[in-house]
Amino acid sequence: MSGLRVLITGGTGLLGHALLQGAPQSCETLATAFRSAPAVEWRARFRPLDVRDARAVDALIADYRPGVVIHAASVGSVDQAEREPDAVRRTNVDGLAAVGRACARAGARLVFISSNAVFDGTHPPYDEQAPRHAVNQYGRLKIEAEEWLEASGLPHAIVRPILMYGWPPAGGRSNVVTRWLADFEAGRPAEVAQDIRSMPLLASNCADAIWAVVRLDRRGIYHVAGADRVTLVEFARETARVFGCSEDLVVPVPSARFTSLAPRPADTSFVLTKMERDLGVRPLGVHEGLVAMRLARALAR
Ligand SMILES: NC(=O)c1ccc[n+]([C@@H]2O[C@H](COP(=O)([O-])OP(=O)(O)OC[C@H]3O[C@@H](n4cnc5c(N)ncnc54)[C@H](OP(=O)(O)O)[C@@H]3O)[C@@H](O)[C@H]2O)c1
Repeated sequence: MSGLRVLITGGTGLLGHALLQGAPQSCETLATAFRSAPAVEWRARFRPLDVRDARAVDALIADYRPGVVIHAASVGSVDQAEREPDAVRRTNVDGLAAVGRACARAGARLVFISSNAVFDGTHPPYDEQAPRHAVNQYGRLKIEAEEWLEASGLPHAIVRPILMYGWPPAGGRSNVVTRWLADFEAGRPAEVAQDIRSMPLLASNCADAIWAVVRLDRRGIYHVAGADRVTLVEFARETARVFGCSEDLVVPVPSARFTSLAPRPADTSFVLTKMERDLGVRPLGVHEGLVAMRLARALAR
């Protein structure tokens, strides 16, 4: 893979940032930013891009001539997708199609970052062949994007991460752990859904799996998740413990209490056999992942 050029869309996101930090030295990377300004030390490796602008997508890919495109740009808000499905489709589905068509013209392989939201959460654990059926618009748009890519004939892989956490880049979108910590470290209680299970995934571990897909030229679908299957309440309590806060600040509530939000699948836990066998990666469990976050913060201070 020496000298391979990799374009990363969504480079200012939680995952995009982790991909840049974990990029193999043998690769050359270029990332894209949309509304966020990349940190000064990263700026030289960024270009501005709105994936809704198909001409701009084509021009960037024709100019950079990547061997691989990792398409991580998307509107990540499940609730925004529920409120404005047509607007979000322009980014999450049409954006993927624009990137795919440009890859076809440039002869690049495409690694598309999809989501566990393609499943309704009623029959866990899910392997890569499980039928797709989403409970919300965000998941339905991911299904549309996956179906477009599968029908396109392009050389591609689809990586489906599950609930990701980690330190976002400055100004980046918060995630469950950073939101809980903002409350816990201020002594504020946080209500946490007691009936949702997941396999929380440290963003840097997801990046390792994606780089393995690139390095080994894997095709098809890959499920990527952390080692532990836990309820969100267990995850929140572990977050409080690891960061030295009171577990009593975690207030378990039924998810039905969050009535204004899009429905969430109850348990989309993954079967990880293919990830472990084909990619050789073993993501951390929640305790180890949270300790890694605590250490990263201590080192940055
Ligand atoms: N986070 C999770 O728990 C999770 C779970 C499963 C799957 N995923 C998937 O993983 C991928 C990465 O997620 P993430 O958490 O890293 O997302 P994120 O932190 O919300 O970042 C989203 C990225 O997309 C970019 N973007 C948004 N609209 C764009 C547009 N119109 N044109 C170009 N770029 C645009 C953003 O750019 P700016 O910041 O510059 O505006 C940002 O770089 C997404 O496909 C998401 O669906 C995430």
